[in-house]
Amino acid sequence: MKKDFLDIKDLTKKDIIEILSRARQLKKLHPIDLDVLKNKNIYFLFFEPSTRTKMSFLQAATLLKGNCFDLELSKSSLTKGESLFETLVNLENLGADAFIIRIKEVGFLDLFSKKTKATIINAGEGKYRHPSQALLDLYTIWEEWGYDFERLKSLKVTIVGDIKNSRVARSLFQIFNKFEIKTYVYGPSTYLLENFEVYNVKPLNSLKEVISISDIVILLRIQLERQNAKKYFPSLNTYYKLYGFNLEKIKNINPNLKIMHPGPFNDKVEIESSLAYSKNSLIFKQVKNGVFVRAAILEKFLI
Ligand code: CP
Repeated sequence: MKKDFLDIKDLTKKDIIEILSRARQLKKLHPIDLDVLKNKNIYFLFFEPSTRTKMSFLQAATLLKGNCFDLELSKSSLTKGESLFETLVNLENLGADAFIIRIKEVGFLDLFSKKTKATIINAGEGKYRHPSQALLDLYTIWEEWGYDFERLKSLKVTIVGDIKNSRVARSLFQIFNKFEIKTYVYGPSTYLLENFEVYNVKPLNSLKEVISISDIVILLRIQLERQNAKKYFPSLNTYYKLYGFNLEKIKNINPNLKIMHPGPFNDKVEIESSLAYSKNSLIFKQVKNGVFVRAAILEKFLI
């Protein structure tokens, strides 16, 4: 096993199957009463906002009795000019066994992973990759399709929205390829990539086609905090009309379509909330599964 979990490429298909199977066991065992992370010091450094990823890693580490430390960035010596590298070296000297990091700058995690003995876990890296999200998304699909890895090959999954700026999409392409899941994309042309063939995914041509051929649609958030949305489409209302999902749009074409979204979602932009709370939605299952998948990741990399 590699020391760090930075990318889906760090895992073989066998590793992924082991992690998901362990997550299934942990979910069955819940409330988990294990102390496999006893005496492990796990430091949380989140340089970008997070609710789901941070809280589920924190909950997972706590359930396994790890010692969790959340560096309060705005009150840390980073504000006095100490570099992130120096900060991490100092935390390692305090006894850190692992760092769970969300960061905007791409590449730092790879560089630091070579300099430290501690385990680094990528909790979301700029627009580049979000491997634990991809694992919990695959877990949620596997759970929904009867815990049968072979059946995944018959699935058609379409990822809709801001593919270009999405760390989730890139990690999903990697993991879906490993499990031979047929993967499609759809969205405004300004949000699509030119080189889809390298990711082995196929663009679709209309919302109707997306709804009719897909078993699952994964909606991506319009990242309003990172971009001026007007560069990509005329208005949020137009986006909702052309690319947004609601019960009305799916009911006559594919009433069994499953909808996923990594969250947080923008109501009436990517999705209307009544669909998010409907039986079609796996969104809150994704959130719940995050705890068990991340517990399995911590076990795999830390013990
Ligand atoms: N999906 C996801 O990464 O959500 P958070 O930003 O709330 O962690």
